[in-house]
Order: sequence, then C-alpha cells, then structure tokens
Amino acid sequence: MTHDHAWFTHDRFGMFVHWGLYALPARHEWVMHREQTQIADYERYLRYFEADLYDPEQWAATAKAAGMKYVVLTTKHHEGFCLWDSKLTDYKITNTPHGKDAIRPYVEALRAAGLKVGFYHSLIDWHHPDYTIDLINPRREDDNIPEQNEGRDMARYREYLHGQVRELLTDYGQIDYLFFDFSYPGREHPNGGAPGKGHEDWDSEKLMALCRELQPNIVINDRLDIPGDLVTPEQYQPSGPMLRDGKPVLWEACQTLNGSWGYDRDNDDYKSPELLIKMLIDGVSKGGNLLLNVGPTGRGEIDPRARESLAEIGDWMTYHDKSIYGAGPSEFTAPVDCRYTQRGDRLYLHLFSWPLKHVHLAGLGGHVEYAQFLHDASEIFFKEADPQAQAQNTSRGAEAEGTVTLSLPVRPPNVAVPVVEIFLK
Ligand code: GLC
Repeated sequence: MTHDHAWFTHDRFGMFVHWGLYALPARHEWVMHREQTQIADYERYLRYFEADLYDPEQWAATAKAAGMKYVVLTTKHHEGFCLWDSKLTDYKITNTPHGKDAIRPYVEALRAAGLKVGFYHSLIDWHHPDYTIDLINPRREDDNIPEQNEGRDMARYREYLHGQVRELLTDYGQIDYLFFDFSYPGREHPNGGAPGKGHEDWDSEKLMALCRELQPNIVINDRLDIPGDLVTPEQYQPSGPMLRDGKPVLWEACQTLNGSWGYDRDNDDYKSPELLIKMLIDGVSKGGNLLLNVGPTGRGEIDPRARESLAEIGDWMTYHDKSIYGAGPSEFTAPVDCRYTQRGDRLYLHLFSWPLKHVHLAGLGGHVEYAQFLHDASEIFFKEADPQAQAQNTSRGAEAEGTVTLSLPVRPPNVAVPVVEIFLK
C-alpha cells in the first residue's frame, strides 16, 4: 500500500526535541548509561521535574520562525520516563511536580501553528523491569547480570512497548511521523548479559503493522531493524543521494546543535548557524531532509544559545526558503564549493565560498534564461562560453564548451549563504 509522504519531501526541514528527566542532570541524554546510575538513584529526578516554563506554543513558534515544517518530540527516551499519562506505567510526567500530560498540549500547539506532528519513541528502556540487561544497559558492568536478568521477560516488555505505541497513536489524533530508536542486533555481552536487540525483540513486523493500521499515512523510520519509509543517517552528512539496492530512498539526517541530543549544560561545542544552514542545503541537494535537534532545559525552555542559532537560520530561510521547500537534487553538477537545489525550472546555486567575480557553471550552456540573487531579486549577468575567446589582460579566455559564467560583485551579499536563482529555459 503506498502512503502519501509527499509532504515529507516537500517540507525538508524539521525540529527534533529531546526532553525528559535527563534534562535535570543536564549531562547528555545518555547520562544514566554513562554514569551507570542505579534506577532507584535516577528516579529521584521525578521529584524535581517541575518544567514550569514548558510552553509548546513557544516551541512551535521557534520552530516555525526557523523555517521548520514539522517537529518530532521524545515521548519516551532510553531512560524509560514517559511524557504522557500512560496507563501502563507510573514512571511518567503526571507523577512529577509538573503533573500534567505534556504530549497533548504539544500536539495541539503544533496543529495550531500548521506544523506536522512527529513522535520519537525509544525501543530501549533502562527502567522497565522486564527489559533484559545487555551491553548498552547502565548495569552492563555489574558482575551478576545473569542473576539480574532472571525473571525478566522480554515478551512482557513487548506487550508494554506495543501497548504504549497504541496509546500514542490512538489518543492524540493524526500523527504524521514516528521515529523509533534504535536496534542493535547481534552484539554479544562479554559477561553473560543479553545479546544486542533487534526485530525479534520488538516483534517489529507486528509493531509496524499496528502503526499502519492506526495511522495509515504515518511516516515510519528505519530503526526497527526492518526497512521503514526512510533512512535516518545520524550526525553525519551523506556524500550523495542515499540508495538501497541501488535505488534512491527517502532520507533525513538528524543532527545536533552541539553533539548532545539532551540538554547538556556545559557543552559549548555549538555548530555555527552558517554550518547548520549549509547542512540543510547540502542535504536537499542530495535529496534529503534535515531534522535539527534542540534539548530543552529541565524547566522546559529551549535555551537561549539554541534559540539564537535557530533565529539565524530563520533569517536566512526568510529570503531563501524557495530554494529548500519542494526542492531537490539537480541533474546539473555544481561547481566546487557550491551546491545546486532544483525546483522545476528554477535552479538554485548555493555559494559555500565566495569567488572573485566569476563562477563557471559547467553544462548550463543553452539552458539559462535569466539569473538573479534570490535574497533581493537583483539581476546577475551571465555569458555563454565563447570557444574562440583569447585570454588577454583583463579579458578571460575560453571556458569549456557548454559553460555559462556568472558575473558576481566583489563583495558577497550580507546573507549566511548567498544563492543565485537561475531561471531555466
Ligand atoms: C542515537 C542516540 C539517542 C538519540 C538518537 C537520535 O540513537 O543514542 O540518544 O536519541 O540517536 O537519533
């Protein structure tokens, strides 16, 4: 059955939100794993989760102003804490001082802002009593793991997993995107723990069928250890369009602002807004989306550094979104340090570095009708290659047959990434 996922390839740019108890220690969303925290010790954060500044309308407004068209929120991360009033556990936000379901206002705020609604849901659960201890579990270095795993029943965990997914896909209306995370089959545990987990552990075929039955048009990712609707490269940019069995596939790179998904207070390794914009362009030029992450604080606010980065991306998108929405790879090959995105008969040349006065576009001969800067629609002169031209003083020699040369001002326009909009014949 084909699903209507056209919105996904049109919209190209989304916000990922990692929020949970880990926002309180504020030392990365894997803090429980990294510090091998005992469950009883980690549960103390329940008492401090006030989230008094939680305002999903503010999140939606921040995403929209950045040019993002959809949002994906962690309903539950590996720590096992749930942001909704699940009937299947007490380890949830309604048992914290915050006391309210965070998912309903999130969904409503997105819909009110005209944004598509996505859920991230962890397959992994370091809190559930039936989830067996394996090599990525916070208890992975204990010396009595086989004893600890006695009585744990993954069949009961599967019931819990499927039950919670049913809650999320039944109680909140249409959900547009489901990002499961993650499978790690086959990796043996050095001293008697359970092996890595994959599709059998989640009963993935049945789980995916359940999702499609409850939400026929939902987009589902590729981390159930069975093929999904798209591929999700993480924290790297693919070198070209992504292929499966030689055929291009839908893909979306998920990226952080500073290397951590959860709020990481002392981590200043922030990417520049210019680099983030180039990552968005680069992805679209290769047929992919960008899912850019924020990690709100324990109070529920998107921290100022993150908001600054998103605001600068928004400034660029205000003038350049035509080169992103509904755009994709071009049949033409871009010059060095440039990217092409194309939307019908509009070709967008993104200049990642500013050349001196000229940029030569191979293969565009006979195709160019008109050219202008995208941000201000100011005309850009262009010239078809003249194979007879002789280099003499300031006059350039001949470029390769079929090359079109654009004449650029010496100073780049004051935008993060300058773009020339080329009207193709
Ligand atoms: C990885 C990280 C996880 C994060 C996810 C986002 O799986 O381990 O913490 O949520 O990527 O894609």
